Amino acid sequence: MRNTQATRLLFELSASDRATNVYPDCDVPESSLPELDPCWRRSSDLPLPDVPEPDVVRHFLNLSTLNMSVDSHFYPLGSCTMKYNPKRHERLARLPLAANAHPYQPVDQIQGLLKVLFDLQGMLAEIAGLPSVSLHPAAGAQGELTALLTAAAWFRDRGEQRTRVIFPSSAHGTNPASAALAGFECVQLKRSKTGFVDLEELKSLVDEKTAVFMITNPNTLGLFEHQISEIADVLHDAGGLVYIDGANMNAILGRTRPGDFGGDMMHYNVHKTFTGPHGAGGPGAGPIAVRDFLADYLPAPVVTHDTTTDRYELSTPPKSIGRMRSFFGNVGILLRGYFYIRTLGGVGLREASDNAVLNANYLLSRLNDVLDVPHGTRCMHEFVASAKKLKERNGATAMDIAKRLLDYGFHAPTVYFPLDVDEAMMMEPTETESLATLDAFADAIRQICDEDPDVLRNAPHTTPVCRPDEVSAARKPVLCWSSDHC
Ligand SMILES: Cc1ncc(COP(=O)(O)O)c(C=O)c1O
Repeated sequence: MRNTQATRLLFELSASDRATNVYPDCDVPESSLPELDPCWRRSSDLPLPDVPEPDVVRHFLNLSTLNMSVDSHFYPLGSCTMKYNPKRHERLARLPLAANAHPYQPVDQIQGLLKVLFDLQGMLAEIAGLPSVSLHPAAGAQGELTALLTAAAWFRDRGEQRTRVIFPSSAHGTNPASAALAGFECVQLKRSKTGFVDLEELKSLVDEKTAVFMITNPNTLGLFEHQISEIADVLHDAGGLVYIDGANMNAILGRTRPGDFGGDMMHYNVHKTFTGPHGAGGPGAGPIAVRDFLADYLPAPVVTHDTTTDRYELSTPPKSIGRMRSFFGNVGILLRGYFYIRTLGGVGLREASDNAVLNANYLLSRLNDVLDVPHGTRCMHEFVASAKKLKERNGATAMDIAKRLLDYGFHAPTVYFPLDVDEAMMMEPTETESLATLDAFADAIRQICDEDPDVLRNAPHTTPVCRPDEVSAARKPVLCWSSDHC
C-alpha cells in the first residue's frame, strides 16, 4: 500500500492535541444514562482517533474515489456487462409506489405495485419468447437453480429419472454449481476449435438420463451459437430440456428470442440487460422465463390478474417448488428493469443491443492487429482477445496489460476467462460508450503493447495499491483495523 493522504487510516491521521469539534456550552439540563445496564454506557477510554472534521471529510471523500466504477471510468469487463445505470431510473425506483410498500401489506393496498410487477412479467415473457415468468430469483445464479429445480419437479411428476445436466466447457461457473446444487450430475462438453458447441460430441453425450443442456447464447466467446435450433432438437428428441443462460441477452434484445431458437427456460440478469446496479454481488434480480408446461412448478408467489375484478393477486402455482427467497423478489432492482424497458420500448431495446454489438465490433477491429482474436474477426456484444503472442515476444501477460490499463484510467477487461483461451482478455464495451472513449481505450492498449515489459510487470504505478495478493485477500481477509497491522 502506498502511504498517501487518501490511503492513510484515520487512526494514522490522529493526533492527540487536535480538537475534533467545538460545541457550544450545553444550555439544557444534563441527564445521565440509565444505570440499569452497564453496556449502555460508553467507556471513557474508547480508542477513537482524534481527527479534525475537515480531515475526516477529505479522508472519506478521497476513499470514495479510489474504486473504479461505471460512473467514473470506462469499464469493459467482458461477460459482466457493466451497463450504465441511468440515474432517472434510480429516482423512479424510489417513488412511494415501492419505497413505502411493506411486504406484509395486504394486496388491496399495493395494487399499483402488483400491476407493475405483473406487467414486468409480461414484458420479460415477450422478450424471452417464453410465456411464464417468475420474478423471484435474487440473481442470475439463483435463476439457474430455480429453473433447474422447476425442471426437476416436472421430470419427477412425469416419473422420469433424469439425473444429468450437460454444459459446455466454456460455461460460466455458476452453471455447474447450480446443477450440482439442484442434485444433478454435471457432464462437461468440450468446445470445438471453432468456438461453438460440437454437435456430434453433444449427440454422443445426450441420452435418456439427460435432463437439461445449459448453454449461454451468445456464448462466452461473444459468438452466436448458430446451430442452436439443431442443438435444441437433439435435446428435445431425447426428451431433455434446453436452458438458455441469458447473461448475454444484451446482444440480442429484439433480434431473436430464446423461446424461438429452442430454449425451454432461461434467466435474465437484470443488472446486465436492464441496468440494475451491479452493487458488488448484490442486491440483484435474476427472473426466469419458462415454457407453459413448466409454469405450474414455478416458485411462489407469482403475480396474477383477475380480469373480471381487475384485481392483482400474489398466487402460488399448483405444483410450486416453493419459495426461493423472501417475499416477492428483489422489487427495487426489478423496478429499475421495468423502467428501463418502458423507457426504451421494443425499438429502443433493439437499438441498445445493436449498438452494443457495433461497439464491440469496432473495438475488435481497432485491436486485432496488436492482440490476437482467436475466434474470428466479428463478434456479438463482446470478444475474447489473447495476449499469448505478446507474451511470447516480450514476456508481458494479459494480467500485466490489465494492470497497466489502470494507469491509463481504464478499468481492465476480464482476464483469464474463458479458461480455454490462453492469456484471455474478454472485452465488452456496452452500448453507451462513445466513439471517443472506444478510441481512447484502443489507443491505450496499442501503446501498452509497445511499452517496456518491465514497466508493465510493475504496473499499476499510479494507484494506492499496486498488486495485492488476491488469493490471500480472498481467503484470509483482514476486515478489522488493529494497531498490529500498522
Ligand atoms: C454467463 C453467466 N451466467 C451466469 C452468471 C451469474 O449471474 P449472477 O452474477 O447474477 O448470479 C454470470 C455472471 O457474471 C454470467 O456471466
